[in-house]
Parts: sequence; C-alpha cells; structure tokens
Amino acid sequence: MEKLIRYGIIGIGGMGANHANLLLQNKINNACLASVCDMNKSFANNFADIPFYSNVSDFFNKEKIDVAIIATPHRKKKSGNDLGTKGSGGSGKCINYM
Ligand SMILES: NC(=O)c1ccc[n+]([C@@H]2O[C@H](COP(=O)([O-])OP(=O)(O)OC[C@H]3O[C@@H](n4cnc5c(N)ncnc54)[C@H](O)[C@@H]3O)[C@@H](O)[C@H]2O)c1
Repeated sequence: MEKLIRYGIIGIGGMGANHANLLLQNKINNACLASVCDMNKSFANNFADIPFYSNVSDFFNKEKIDVAIIATPHRKKKSGNDLGTKGSGGSGKCINYM
C-alpha cells in the first residue's frame, strides 16, 4: 500500500481553497489534507475537521505534513518564500510555491 502524502496549505483564499477542495474530495491519489494555515482566522470555520493555524511557525511545528503548498498573494511572494524556508526550519518538508 502506497504511503498517504499529508498536504498542508498556507493561504486558503481562492487558489488555496481550490487545492483544499481537491484534496478533501479525494481527487488526488494517495493524498490527504492534513492542515491549513491562514492569517485570517475566520477561514477556520470553512475547515471544521482540519487542524487550522493562523501562524506559520505553528503550522510547521505542530502538525506532521509531507508537502506544504504556499498560496499567498503575488505581493507576498517574497515573504511567501520566507514562510517556506524559515518556517519549515530545514525540516526537509517539500514546499510547493504557487
Ligand atoms: N497557478 C495558477 O494557475 C494560479 C492562479 C491564480 C493564482 N495563483 C497564485 O496563487 C496565489 C494566491 O492567489 P489567490 O488568488 O488565491 O489569493 P487570495 O488573496 O485569494 O488568497 C491568499 C490568502 O493568503 C492568506 N495569507 C496572506 N499572507 C499570509 C501569511 N503570511 N500567512 C498565512 N496566510 C496568509 C490571505 O489571508 C488569503 O486568505 C498567488 O500567488 C497567485 O500567483 C496561481
């Protein structure tokens, strides 16, 4: 049996939510949505059964994820890169920037 890849998503606005829905609808083989992170805490209500974090450090440190999708806006691309490289703390987790 293949390993289930645990995805986490940072930024669950338009594109992040699209990715989240694909995972929640089991449209990606061997993948599940393990955790979501957005600075807007109201988004937690949209993902009642999924661990939600409003800051990136907690997202990387408290939840076991294999792949992080960073779906923050264009203007935050640079900080998005920082989110991945600093936030993951060299953990070896795979980071996918949109
Ligand atoms: N590949 C594609 O086809 C495609 C298409 C559209 C957009 N995109 C990319 O997707 C990215 C997101 O676009 P969008 O339209 O979903 O934006 P959006 O504004 O709808 O959503 C971005 C979310 O990121 C959150 N966010 C911002 N900074 C954060 C931080 N530091 N920590 C946690 N959450 C944070 C915001 O609260 C927001 O909910 C953009 O970079 C864009 O380039 C890709």
